[in-house]
Amino acid sequence: MTENVEKFITAFADSLKRNTFVKATLGNYKGDDPHLQRINIRTIETKKGLRLFFLYKYDTRDTAKNYAFDEGLELIGKMLDGEFFSGHLFTTDGDLQLDIGKKGSRLNKAKPTFKTINKPVHDREKERLIDPRSPYLRALGIATDSGEIREKQHRKWTQINRFVEILSSLVEKSSLKGKPSLSIVDMGAGKGYLTFAAYDYFANTLGLDVSVVGVEARDNLAKLSDDIARAVGFEKLRFEQGTIDSYELTNVDILIALHACDTATDDALFKAISAKAELIVAAPCCHQQVRPQITPPAMFRDVLKHGVLLERTAETLTDGLRSLLLEREGYATKMIEFVSVEHTPKNNMLVGTRLTNAKDTTNIVAEIAEIKEQFGIKNQRLEQLLEGENADAK
Ligand SMILES: C[S@@+](CC[C@H](N)C(=O)[O-])C[C@H]1O[C@@H](n2cnc3c(N)ncnc32)[C@H](O)[C@@H]1O
Repeated sequence: MTENVEKFITAFADSLKRNTFVKATLGNYKGDDPHLQRINIRTIETKKGLRLFFLYKYDTRDTAKNYAFDEGLELIGKMLDGEFFSGHLFTTDGDLQLDIGKKGSRLNKAKPTFKTINKPVHDREKERLIDPRSPYLRALGIATDSGEIREKQHRKWTQINRFVEILSSLVEKSSLKGKPSLSIVDMGAGKGYLTFAAYDYFANTLGLDVSVVGVEARDNLAKLSDDIARAVGFEKLRFEQGTIDSYELTNVDILIALHACDTATDDALFKAISAKAELIVAAPCCHQQVRPQITPPAMFRDVLKHGVLLERTAETLTDGLRSLLLEREGYATKMIEFVSVEHTPKNNMLVGTRLTNAKDTTNIVAEIAEIKEQFGIKNQRLEQLLEGENADAK
C-alpha cells in the first residue's frame, strides 16, 4: 500500500472511530470488470450492528454489500491498489481526495462539504441517488433540520429523485459518460430545487468537476437561490437573473429546461441546438402558441370538437413538432414520462441526444410540413427561431 493510500485508510478508520464519517466514494475504476464504475460507501444499521454499506454502481444495475468496519477498510485498501484510482472521503472535519496517477498519487484536503453526520441508513431503506440529509434540502425547506423530508414536500422530493435518476441514466448512455467535467445550464430554474439536485449529484456524489448555471427571469428567486448555493458551499453552482432568449449560451454539455412557460421552452431548445449541447432535457408546459391556430382536418373535426381534447391535441402536436425539429437538427429524441400524472399533469419529458453523424432529414422536413398543413398550423416558435438562424446563415 502506498503512503497516500495508507493515509487515506487511516483517516477513514479515524473518522469511523470518532463518529465524523459521512460517506466515501471510490472512482476511476480500471479493473477487470467491464461494467463496474464506482462504489459509494456509507454506514448502515443492521441486525449485527453498524456496518459499512458498499453500493457497487454498474452501468446498468447496482449491487450492494455490507462489511464490518475492519473488513471494509481492508477491502478499500486492496481496491485502491490497482483497481480504483480515486477515493473521496467526506467527514465533518474535512474532505479528503485521493488521486492515483501513473507518476504517483496526490492527497488533497478540503473544507467539509457536510457539517453534520448522516444518521446511518437502515438496511430496509431504498438506496437513493440523493442524500435527504444534504444541507441544500434543508435550506430549500424540503427537509427538516434533522434531515427528514417535510410532510408537504414529499411530492417535490419524488420529483427531485426521479429527475436525478433520469439525468444520471441519460448521461450514462450518452457521449458524456466518463467525461470528468460537465457544463450544465438550467433555463427557467424557478426556486432551483432541480438545479441544486443536479449539481449535488454530479459534483458531490459522482465527484465530477461540474459547473451549473440556473437562469431565472425573476430576480428575487435568482438571488435567493444564489445565496443558498453560497451558503451550502456549492462553489460552481450559480444562479443568474435573465431571460432565456437573451442568455448567451456558448459552452454547454447539458441543457435543462423544466416547465419553462409556453414558448420559453422553444427559446431554450433553440439555444441548446445553436450551442450544440450534447444532451437536452426539457419538460414543456402551458402550450399556448399552437392551440388557437389549429383547425383539425375534416376526419378529426367531430372528434376534436371537445375543447379538452383539442387542448391535448395542441400539446401533443407542439411537443411532437419540437421533437421532429430536434431530429431535423441532428438529435436523436425520445419522449418519456417525467413523474406520474398523479404528481403533475405536465409530465412529458423531451430528451435530445446529439448525433455524431448527420442523418438524411428529407422525410422529417416533409413530415413537419404535412402536419402543419393538415392542422392549419402557421407558426411554431422553435421552427421560427431556426428559420431565422438559417436565413442569417445564408
Ligand atoms: C414553473 S417554474 C419551473 C421551475 C423549475 N424549472 C422546475 O421545474 O421546478 C418556471 C420558471 O421559469 C421562469 N421563466 C419563465 N419564462 C422564462 C424566460 N423566458 N426566461 C427565464 N426564466 C423564465 C419563471 O419565472 C419560473 O420561475
